[in-house]
Amino acid sequence: MAQPQTREWRSTLTVWSPDDLDAADRELLREAHEAASKAYAPYSLFQVGGAVCLEDGTVVRGSNQENMAYPSGMCGERVAVFAAGAQHPGAVMRAVAIVSPSPKAIADAFMPCGGCRQVLVEAERRQGQPLRVILQVRDEDVMISESAVNLMPFAFEAHGLGGQES
Ligand code: THU
Repeated sequence: MAQPQTREWRSTLTVWSPDDLDAADRELLREAHEAASKAYAPYSLFQVGGAVCLEDGTVVRGSNQENMAYPSGMCGERVAVFAAGAQHPGAVMRAVAIVSPSPKAIADAFMPCGGCRQVLVEAERRQGQPLRVILQVRDEDVMISESAVNLMPFAFEAHGLGGQES
C-alpha cells in the first residue's frame, strides 16, 4: 500500500533565566505583570497580563476580562493586541509579553490559547515582520518564541475572504 506523504512542523522556544534577558524584554515583562495586576478574573482566579511593544517603543497593555456569561470574557493577550490595533492602527508590534502571576499557572505549559495564537499570527502576517512572544509565570524562567507563527503549526491562512487586504 502506498505510504502517505508527511508534513512536519518544527517549533523552537528559548528558555531564559530572567536575569539573562536583555533590559528591553525585562521591562516588557514588568509591564505585562503590571497589566496582570489589573485583570478582572473573579471566576477563574487566573490573571493574565499582556504588554505589546510597538516599533517606536510604545507599550500597550491588556489583561483578561471575564464575565459571568463565561464566553463573553476575553484573554489578556488578545485585549492587549486588539487595544494596540485600535489605538495604533498600522504600527508594527515587535513583541508581546504575556504573563500570569497566578499560583495555578504552570510555567512550562503557559501558552497563549488557540484563539489568541490565531490573532497573534494574523497581526504578524499583516505587518510582515516577526512578532516575538515572551512568556512568564510569576518570576520563573521565561520562554521566548521568535515569531507568532512558530506557536501555530499549520496556521489557517486564506486568500479571497472578501477583505481588501491581500
Ligand atoms: N486566559 C488568557 O488570558 N490567555 C490565554 O491564553 C489563556 C487563558 C484567561 C482566560 C480566562 O480569563 C482565564 O485565563 C482562565 O482560562
